[in-house]
Amino acid sequence: MQDSSLKDAATPMSESAPAAPVAAAAPMLAPVVIRQDFTDGLRLDLNLGVAAYPVFLMEKPAQLLARYMETLIGQQTAERQSLRLNDPKRVILLCDENTAELFGIDIETQFITAGWEVDALTVPAGEQAKTLAVVEQLCEALAALGANRNTVLCSLGGGIMSDLAGFVAGIFKRGMHLAHISTSLVGLVDAAVGGKTAVNLPTGKNQIGLYKHPLAIVSDPSYLQQLPEEDYVCGLAEAAKTALLAGGEFTAWIEDNTEPLLQRDPVVLRELIARCISFKASIVATDPHEDNVPSARLSLNYGHTLGHVIETVTAQQEVPVPHGIAVAQGMRFEARMAMQLVEAEADFVLRQDALLDALNLPALDPVTMGDDFDHIVDIFYRDKKIDNSELRFILMATPGHPEIVTVPREILCDHLRAWLPEHSDSANKEEVAVNGAEGQDAQ
Ligand SMILES: NC(=O)c1ccc[n+]([C@@H]2O[C@H](COP(=O)([O-])OP(=O)(O)OC[C@H]3O[C@@H](n4cnc5c(N)ncnc54)[C@H](O)[C@@H]3O)[C@@H](O)[C@H]2O)c1
Repeated sequence: MQDSSLKDAATPMSESAPAAPVAAAAPMLAPVVIRQDFTDGLRLDLNLGVAAYPVFLMEKPAQLLARYMETLIGQQTAERQSLRLNDPKRVILLCDENTAELFGIDIETQFITAGWEVDALTVPAGEQAKTLAVVEQLCEALAALGANRNTVLCSLGGGIMSDLAGFVAGIFKRGMHLAHISTSLVGLVDAAVGGKTAVNLPTGKNQIGLYKHPLAIVSDPSYLQQLPEEDYVCGLAEAAKTALLAGGEFTAWIEDNTEPLLQRDPVVLRELIARCISFKASIVATDPHEDNVPSARLSLNYGHTLGHVIETVTAQQEVPVPHGIAVAQGMRFEARMAMQLVEAEADFVLRQDALLDALNLPALDPVTMGDDFDHIVDIFYRDKKIDNSELRFILMATPGHPEIVTVPREILCDHLRAWLPEHSDSANKEEVAVNGAEGQDAQ
């Protein structure tokens, strides 16, 4: 039973998809995402223009990945030469210490059962693994294992493993194959999709990277049941961001499903992941490698401008603010700015606050940010999204309508003073209130 559904799901899209209707006159554009539901999971086929690959959300994900990759070997026609996937069928897993312990043996067994050779490399969990020093160690380890361009480097973990594996696969021998077995909510709704990879520098996060798309992304969403609560709600923050950027039905859907999402209801979670991946793919496909100025991909940074500043300011504290919590606060801040700069209504601010509250993402206590106002402002101007030293924010008047807006330093400082009350004086408070940021108190 399991085997036959694996076989159906892993079939190349051209063999398994229903025949597309033939357009009478206008040429048909390839859809960005094709979705197929199975009784025990689903398959999304992403067509990003520069790359096309499937996402499988099902039990036995490594077995499914192995079978799918074999279909690619079988398709070594002229157009597919670049895949160079040959025997021996060889995969090297990149795990962190948690995912190695939780899923390593099971995933290795699935690959071996499918007839693949498998090795595993394990790095410490957390951002400390996203460094050039770890990249060098991993490249040396790959060389020692005799890996070559035909070997598949497969991340097993969350966004940190997919960022790291993607970067290493992009540079080792000038590019080896890549796949992701994604196990965190951030990984599934955001990080594994879109081809961006990165490691950190001491001066900032994600400063060095490249674009590298995987052959496939797979996961068994039941893995998320074991994710620590804080990592889970960080994933909900990225999902809320996506649902608000998408607007319309997706925003309403997530508002209606906050309770089952907090309970990690498997059916609702699968739907959330599918919706987030589909939306992100549709944005990435408009400008996969961010060649346009400005790129539509920038909108995916909603909440991230303040979010990154919060992460940097609190990085050395005993308990740094996690990425998702920082992004959620960034969304609250940017919604208030949107009232002044893009005519957002107070209703939108309150609606977004209610969604974040319901997803267990409460407003951040401003005390967390310390009292060095000038330092906080300086960090904004170190942000890598700055063009010609102008600071840009993603602002929305209503869900589904993001805009890239240049924000003058004075306006940024006004809003920061309103959020960080110890820096505010009565004149500043009054100015922000007149500009319509009355919901600010809720923070
Ligand atoms: N490339 C992109 O487009 C993109 C987008 C968003 C985020 N990111 C990056 O993603 C990273 C954050 O990703 P993350 O939140 O997944 O972090 P992560 O990879 O560190 O995973 C979070 C923690 O959960 C553990 N874990 C993972 N899956 C588990 C499971 N199923 N059960 C129990 N524990 C599990 C991990 O070991 C880790 O300790 C950041 O570095 C961020 O920069 C990249």
